[in-house]
Amino acid sequence: MTRLIDGKKISASEVEQLAVDTRQFIAESSVTPGLAVVLVGDDPASQVYVRNKVKQATAAGFNSTEHRLPEETGQAQLNALVEQLNSDPSVHGILVQLPLPAQLSEPEIIRLIAPEKDVDGFHPQNVGALAAGNAELIPCTPMGCMIMLRQTLGDLSGKHAVVVGRSNIVGKPMAALLLQANCTVTIVHSRSQDIEAICRQADILVAAVGRPEMIRGSWVKPGATVIDVGINAVESGGRRRLVGDVAFNEVSEVAGAITPVPGGVGPMTIACLMKNTLTAARQQIS
Ligand code: GUN
Repeated sequence: MTRLIDGKKISASEVEQLAVDTRQFIAESSVTPGLAVVLVGDDPASQVYVRNKVKQATAAGFNSTEHRLPEETGQAQLNALVEQLNSDPSVHGILVQLPLPAQLSEPEIIRLIAPEKDVDGFHPQNVGALAAGNAELIPCTPMGCMIMLRQTLGDLSGKHAVVVGRSNIVGKPMAALLLQANCTVTIVHSRSQDIEAICRQADILVAAVGRPEMIRGSWVKPGATVIDVGINAVESGGRRRLVGDVAFNEVSEVAGAITPVPGGVGPMTIACLMKNTLTAARQQIS
C-alpha cells in the first residue's frame, strides 16, 4: 500500500506555525511583513496562483499587495514598478509571477529585484548562495518538496534522488537541496538517454517537467518516494481536470509514498513563500 503525502495537511501545519512566528515577530519588532505580488497580463493559471498567494499572505498576518499590469506592458514600466517596490520599506518580499509576456525579459527583472526581497530565490546572488549551501531565500517549490521528503523519510543521506527536469524554478534548485541533504543526485532532461532506466534506480523521484502523466508505473522502483511537481490541465471526456507529471494510478501501485495532484506540492509552495517573506522581513530589520 502506497502512502499518500498530504501536502494540504503538511502545509496547513506549516502555515499555522508561521502565523505564530509572525505574531511574535510583529510583537517584537512592530513591523508587519509585507509581500508585493506582481502579475503582468491575464494568463488564467497565473491569476489563480497570484490570488492564492495574496490570500494566504493576508491569512498569515502579512500586508499583501497585488500589482497588476496589462499584457502589453513594456520593460521600462515593469522595471519602474520593481524599483519602486525595492525602495518601499513596507515591502519585504517581491514576487513577479512568471512566465512574463514575450516582450519582457525574465532574467532582467529577476536581476533587478533587490536580493534581500527576492522571496522566490531566483536572483543570481541567491542562486549562488544556494549552490554554495548557505542560502537564506530558497525557491519555494523545491523547499516545499524537501519538507515533504523529510517528513516522509526522515534522514535523506545516501539516497539516490533523480530529478526529472532542469528548470531554474524547480529542477536545478531541487537538485542543489537534495545534494545538500547528502543524496546522490541525478538530473535527467529532454536530451537524456534512457530516462526510464535512470528513474527506476531512484529512491526519491521528483518529476518537474510539465508533461502530463509522463512517469509511468514501470519507471518506478518498488517502494520509492515520488514527488509530483507537475500541474497540467488536460481535457478528458469533455471535462477539464488537473493531472501531474506522474501517472498517479499506475505509480501509486508501485511507490512507497506519493504526492497527489492537486493537494501535494501546490499548497507547500505557497506555505514556503510565506516562510521566505517572514525570513526576508527578519533580515531587513536586523
Ligand atoms: N510561476 C510558476 N511557479 C512560480 C514561482 O515559484 N514563482 C514565480 N514568480 N512564478 C512562478
